[in-house]
Amino acid sequence: MDIRKCIEEMTLEEKAGLCSGRDFWHSQNVDRLGIPSAMMCDGPHGLRKQKGEGDHLGINESIRTVCYPTAAALACSFDRELLHELGEMLGEECQAEDVAMLLGPGLNMKRSPLCGRNFEYFSEDPYLAGELGASYIQGLQGKGVSACVKHFAANNQETRRMSGSSNLDERTLHEVYLPAFEAAVKKGKTRSIMCAYNGINGTFCAENKVLLTDILREKWGYEGFVVTDWGAVKDRVKGIAAGLDLEMPGGPGTQDGAIVKAVREGRLEESRLDETVERILRFLQDYLDARKPDMIIDRKAMSEKSGGFAARCAVLLKNEGVLPIDPSRKIAFIGEFAEKPRYQGAGSSHINVAHAASALEAAGGLDIVYARGYDVHKEGKNDTLMQEALETAKAADVAVIFAGLPDSYETEGADRDNMKIPEDQNRLIAEIAKVQKNVVVVLHGGAPMELPWKDQAGAILCMYLGGERVGEAAVKLLTGQVNPGGKLAETWPLRLEDNPSYLNFPGTDGQVNYKEDIYIGYRYYDKKNMEVLFPFGHGLSYTKFEYSDLRLEKDSIADTDALTVSCKVRNAGGVAGQEVVQLYVQEKNSHVSRPVRELKGFEKVGLLPGEEKEVCFVLDKRSFAYYEVKIHDWYVESGEYTVEIGASSRDIRLSGSVKVESTVEIPTFFTYESTVGDLLKTAKGRAFVEQMTGRSNKAEIDSNSAALGEGSEKMAQNMMFEMPLRSIVSFGRMTMEQLDGLLAMLNGDRNTGTP
Ligand code: BGC
Repeated sequence: MDIRKCIEEMTLEEKAGLCSGRDFWHSQNVDRLGIPSAMMCDGPHGLRKQKGEGDHLGINESIRTVCYPTAAALACSFDRELLHELGEMLGEECQAEDVAMLLGPGLNMKRSPLCGRNFEYFSEDPYLAGELGASYIQGLQGKGVSACVKHFAANNQETRRMSGSSNLDERTLHEVYLPAFEAAVKKGKTRSIMCAYNGINGTFCAENKVLLTDILREKWGYEGFVVTDWGAVKDRVKGIAAGLDLEMPGGPGTQDGAIVKAVREGRLEESRLDETVERILRFLQDYLDARKPDMIIDRKAMSEKSGGFAARCAVLLKNEGVLPIDPSRKIAFIGEFAEKPRYQGAGSSHINVAHAASALEAAGGLDIVYARGYDVHKEGKNDTLMQEALETAKAADVAVIFAGLPDSYETEGADRDNMKIPEDQNRLIAEIAKVQKNVVVVLHGGAPMELPWKDQAGAILCMYLGGERVGEAAVKLLTGQVNPGGKLAETWPLRLEDNPSYLNFPGTDGQVNYKEDIYIGYRYYDKKNMEVLFPFGHGLSYTKFEYSDLRLEKDSIADTDALTVSCKVRNAGGVAGQEVVQLYVQEKNSHVSRPVRELKGFEKVGLLPGEEKEVCFVLDKRSFAYYEVKIHDWYVESGEYTVEIGASSRDIRLSGSVKVESTVEIPTFFTYESTVGDLLKTAKGRAFVEQMTGRSNKAEIDSNSAALGEGSEKMAQNMMFEMPLRSIVSFGRMTMEQLDGLLAMLNGDRNTGTP
């Protein structure tokens, strides 16, 4: 296809037509110019290809295929290679099924544990989500199939998901809600982005020029195309002008007419429309180049892989020596999920599987007794099931209870009401713990849950929603055939009320105010020094890891330099295992409010017993920076930064420090309300203070104040630093004319004290 020639030859109507779908899953074709139609499909933890009637809610049939662990589980692997491999396998499946684009991965942040789609998202941490997303995209697109990262942006709940507005400040947007998308663009090189239904500060994402053009294209250099979430368009012409390209699924053609009319009436530049057409044609060309409909894929092998992934993603939350279970013991499996595992969530990501392996089925060869324990479809007290479960538990050496969130609790389109699992399951676990001292709980669910019986359980293994082979993976982990190596990609708070978004979720009448600002997840719990159920990055193993030899390549750098950090990790236990080594950075003396620590690096290492490996990280400007609204950019303050290496965000094993010097000066504008303390932050201001007081820095002024004697010392100091410049006039130390002169000198041309 000669793209330039196509655009020249297309009529205005054809161009407008290309900007919306032909049907629910296909783009428009123009046969006379050889422009093909291409298919887009949901996923992204499997392929949801619908051959019959299309829908975006997981209602109608899709092809039978393999369901992998969902994003919430995948993220706990902290394993870029796993995500890359998954992307490649899905890429090949798309090629074999003649699918041009897979709608994923989902890169929204987990602002609240209640969001109904949390199982489709990776993390509460933007760096982790961005790194994993980028690896998945690289794997998928390496096969020539386009990724479509979603939902851009600040789409963090299901309540009023199609019409609400996420209201947040510029720093929060850039520091928390955008970086995962930025990584998908810059590192993953995603070819497509899906704009979200919701608005940001009152402007729908589909019409948001700041988001779709200023940030996405101008700041990040994005070259792919933007597709709407299904049905997210309101004003099509405004959308195109803002940077939106393809509308899906595409209405009855009225929108195309609106585009044509707007161009004819001069309200929309045809050149802008041509850009959109060019981007869509490039996508179609990529599809033609990568098509391999004759490709044969092996779904049996894919399914086995899915089981392997599930085992690598699981998180051992607690273990007081009950796990691994000696396979020669008599084991009670209790709970309906042992028979019918929960392995995926509901909605557009729903995969149609041939078979989901249960733990009961996978436990062949073990001495297992089973009791159903609860009825997942009929919550409430059930004495018969309880009695049977207690007897089964008593008669065994160990009781493994499969519990968690029923299907109806987690779905696209609805948020959860609370963080609880059904009360009958809570009761079951508590009662069994009274008759059996070895209690293990296996959890299924796509998001954090409250665990009131935590102290009574000897071990807790979280499988999240681990795909179609989750039962088999659970058995391998329980019996020690596989050593757990996953870590939590989100904090599990003690109770819902502790969550920082609690007072503002899900908002009122569609207005969702992100009042917790940058403090989501561990950023909040650490800042408030709160106890949590399980911290971000937490996960146990059947072996022990020892950390040593932290090395920071330099002790001082400029913000433009890279810094290599290394440490050693040794497997000090008796079995092979995998450890996720986490690197956090903190700046203690910032003049803006910053989190206690932020994840800036992670590596997963596999170690045999006794083996030691060196782990390396490279930090760059972004590792130290915060988003400074005065310059609308990332900024590193000069100062001392602590670099921490941890086995979790609350299990820091090594720490060192580095001085970072800023190479960027933030322009400061002084007003009558600026304080003497503000003056001391700039060279010119310091010179003035020196002239007035004979002293040029805070330490000297402090010592001067100290000379005033105890008691008055602190007050004098504060008075000095907090005094607005206009007060110097009030106290008769300067005339108004002199103050204006000072401001003129400090501000250059903008010589007024009025903001
Ligand atoms: C969902 C998207 C999905 C699309 C197509 C929308 O409702 O938000 O994630 O890709 O439908 O099914």
